[in-house]
Amino acid sequence: CGIVGYIGNENAKEILLKGLDKLEYRGYDSAGISLLTDEGVEVFKEKGRIAVLRDSIPTAADGHIGIGHTRWATHGVPSKRNAHPHQSTTERFTLVHNGVIENYEQLKNDYLSNVTFNSDTDTEVIVQLIEYHVNKGLSVEEAFRSTLQLIKGSYAFALLDNQDQDVIYVAKNKSPLLIGVAEDFNVVASDAMAMIQVTNQFIELMDKEVILVRKDGVELMDLNGERKEREPFTAQLDASDIEKGTYPHFMLKEIDEQPLVMRNIIQQYQNENHELVLDEEIRNALLKADRLYIIACGTSYHAGLVGKQFIEKMAGIPVEVHVASEFSYNMPLLSERPLFIYISQSGETADSRAVLVETNKLGHKALTITNVPGSTLSREADYTLALHAGPEIAVASTKAYTAQLAVLAIVAADLAKAKGKDFGFNLLKELAIVGTAMETICGQKDELEKIAKEYLETTRNAFFIGRNVDFYVSLEGALKLKEISYIQAEGFAGGELKHGTIALIEEGTPVVALATQSSVNLSIRGNVKEVVARGANPCIISMQGLNMEGDRFILPKVNEVLAPLVTILPLQLISYYAALHRDCDVDKPRNLAKSVTVE
Ligand code: G6P
Repeated sequence: CGIVGYIGNENAKEILLKGLDKLEYRGYDSAGISLLTDEGVEVFKEKGRIAVLRDSIPTAADGHIGIGHTRWATHGVPSKRNAHPHQSTTERFTLVHNGVIENYEQLKNDYLSNVTFNSDTDTEVIVQLIEYHVNKGLSVEEAFRSTLQLIKGSYAFALLDNQDQDVIYVAKNKSPLLIGVAEDFNVVASDAMAMIQVTNQFIELMDKEVILVRKDGVELMDLNGERKEREPFTAQLDASDIEKGTYPHFMLKEIDEQPLVMRNIIQQYQNENHELVLDEEIRNALLKADRLYIIACGTSYHAGLVGKQFIEKMAGIPVEVHVASEFSYNMPLLSERPLFIYISQSGETADSRAVLVETNKLGHKALTITNVPGSTLSREADYTLALHAGPEIAVASTKAYTAQLAVLAIVAADLAKAKGKDFGFNLLKELAIVGTAMETICGQKDELEKIAKEYLETTRNAFFIGRNVDFYVSLEGALKLKEISYIQAEGFAGGELKHGTIALIEEGTPVVALATQSSVNLSIRGNVKEVVARGANPCIISMQGLNMEGDRFILPKVNEVLAPLVTILPLQLISYYAALHRDCDVDKPRNLAKSVTVE
């Protein structure tokens, strides 16, 4: 979910709606805003996108203070009733929330047994509890802090009191939240991008802090009311990067940007000798570790799998890769000197952040690889490596994935060099070749659209197979297809498919096979024969030099180690066209959010 707030002299409505547009990547099940005026509080909410909400608000709606929310459902189905903001019984208090209150049932039973609820959300319990505390005689600030002290779970809150047009009450624990500051207004936002159009100065809020946001200043404190000071930082974001331009979808724009991203990364990471290198401090920290633990979710996890291959093969350092949501609850035995690498496009994913909090507590060093320096995971880790991919807006990650692979290759190469290991190629030169190969593939959209139509227009399911590093790419290829076209797709190790899953192959089932690794070229083709014998419709994507007759798409030749950086492009484009031809919402697929800020 995403939240925004505004207090100043302008009409709050427009600023809130624009902010919510920018936060829609965090969820778009329902949305709402609330405005305070002399007449009291007005709440507008709708199921569906921000655009639906916008249409439902009368043009006359005014107010110089307000809060807003876009939702990714956790407690309660997506509906108008469960949309935020939520109000207390007397409508005095109005609240928006990002996070999950774990003990809300308990709180409801302990304090609110007489209250009638208007929604199924954990959030409504909190706004009722604030009113409960005010009814007991506490000031609003005290009631807010007392309520926060009772909460177990994650939250970013913005609260309005309809008897006071001069303040927004804000608090945070685990869920991200920033306060944007300016001369005669202040804003609240889940991330800087949402408000970069109005200010680039932001105050970071730490866990279990409260801030009272007024038009002309802010008051920061801990949960006990102990006052503190904090200087704002300048957000390095370019507002023009987040426009679609002439593209029909952000996803297509972002796929096309990949060659440019490769060039950016080369520029950003090269030293005066034209070598791709890490900061000495980061290198030394990595070299001190006896084992690296990569933690990530979704596409970033898939990048981590390839990264493990890079680092182990090139630098000879053992690496484990873990899905973040499993790690905290099922922690493996750690080595003596572990270092944690968090891979996250957004730098905000709650599952990954939960592990970081844990490993920080244990005193282990952490490096975050992210597209958003200044994000929570970047701020809370010891070191950050930036992806330099520019804002990624489409929910399905594309350019961030290839940027992650490129940066992981730089990590591997830098460590290899430091350890005196020769991995046999010049990374800068080979990444430049990758960039050119990406351009060639982006120029073959017609062919890839044809493939999408031929194999995926009507199918119910699809398989992606590969061996060695192609297996990891097949996982990502399948994920792309699932996410945006809703075709049930699975990525499989070529040799493993026959141990059970081959039972799903029927007449005409599409099987996309990747063949970019010479050591397994013949064996993956053997696996293709196995599925063809059972009726599958094979689509072989091979690397130039390894290609054979009948292959459906030939990738330009790049260094085999770096093949995943180009192999994924046709899979991204095939998924894009499959979704397009099945009339799916490419940039905002159902049920998903780009950045999942709840565990
Ligand atoms: C969400 C997105 C995925 C993404 C994952 C991890 O589930 O829908 O596309 O891969 O989060 O996000 P991160 O920002 O941590 O890379």
